[in-house]
Amino acid sequence: MEMPVKRIGVVTAGGDAPGMNAAIRSVVRSAIHNGLEVIGFERGYAGLIEGQSRPLGARSVSGIINLGGTILKTVRCKEMKTPEGIEKAAENLKKHGIDGLVTIGGDGTFTGASKLYQVSGVPMIGIPATIDNDVMGTDTTIGFDTAVNTALSAIDKIRDTATSHERIFVVEVMGRKRGFLALEVGLAGGAEIILLPEVKFDMEKVCEKVRSAREAGKTSEIIVMAEGAGDSREVAKRIAEETGYQVRLTVLGYIQRGGIPTAKSRILASQFGYHAVELLLSGEKKRMVGIQNGKIHSVDLDYSWKVRKELDLEKYQLARILSE
Ligand code: F6P
Repeated sequence: MEMPVKRIGVVTAGGDAPGMNAAIRSVVRSAIHNGLEVIGFERGYAGLIEGQSRPLGARSVSGIINLGGTILKTVRCKEMKTPEGIEKAAENLKKHGIDGLVTIGGDGTFTGASKLYQVSGVPMIGIPATIDNDVMGTDTTIGFDTAVNTALSAIDKIRDTATSHERIFVVEVMGRKRGFLALEVGLAGGAEIILLPEVKFDMEKVCEKVRSAREAGKTSEIIVMAEGAGDSREVAKRIAEETGYQVRLTVLGYIQRGGIPTAKSRILASQFGYHAVELLLSGEKKRMVGIQNGKIHSVDLDYSWKVRKELDLEKYQLARILSE
């Protein structure tokens, strides 16, 4: 007979994302509502490996729903990629009497959780939280909406200078591997050009597009470029050299990772946290919660990191048409 779930763990891993705290709060309070105990592992998988943890009560998650970052802290943990690291983490799960672990993070976090399940047999539920939105099995991730809005408000400000000085601005947004953030921000910000890691581009054509935009009466342009699409300094330099127009570069960087989570990010986090606990209580072993067409669902944890999530190229085409 299966042992009932009594004590669960929660950990945030990988890059922080706004709304992670709202997810921790939801996991803790949903668990306590169901009579479970919760242990928070600190500093991502590093804390799991080194046994850094603290019990989390209902009041220990007070006043955090509106905070960016993660109160449990996070680390990009290299050791978790080694068999020794996984072994140590599994031992600590046993030592702490953990019957289920909720891991909050992105694809790297879920790769680690899958391996940890294989070694420890402890059920693992993933909650997708990353500003990159690059997790298969969910339409959107915790933090993505916040990052989109943060980058968007920066671009709206930059547009004032672009318009006043009749300049071209290259705005680099985060996304080392994927362009979900750049695409969303580019479409919402009315960018003239969007450069993504997923869509090959030719600098000649980019310069040509700038020239034809000017011929069509435009006096300034915004180019939104994902970090992973190439070297933004080079792009800005080439456009200046080839077109003769004034070009400036702004790298938005880590301001996109922090800050007050939007209502959307908080609500998603609250729903995901609750469903993660429900999945553990119903005896699930290895799932990731997600949202699809507005409904909360779950997928196999491996699916979330083994299968590549495709970008919506229709949105890309739309942005092109609307920027003409
Ligand atoms: O995965 C989120 C992300 O912000 C990426 O967009 C970015 O490339 C990367 O993290 C930066 O990582 P680090 O926090 O290790 O500097």
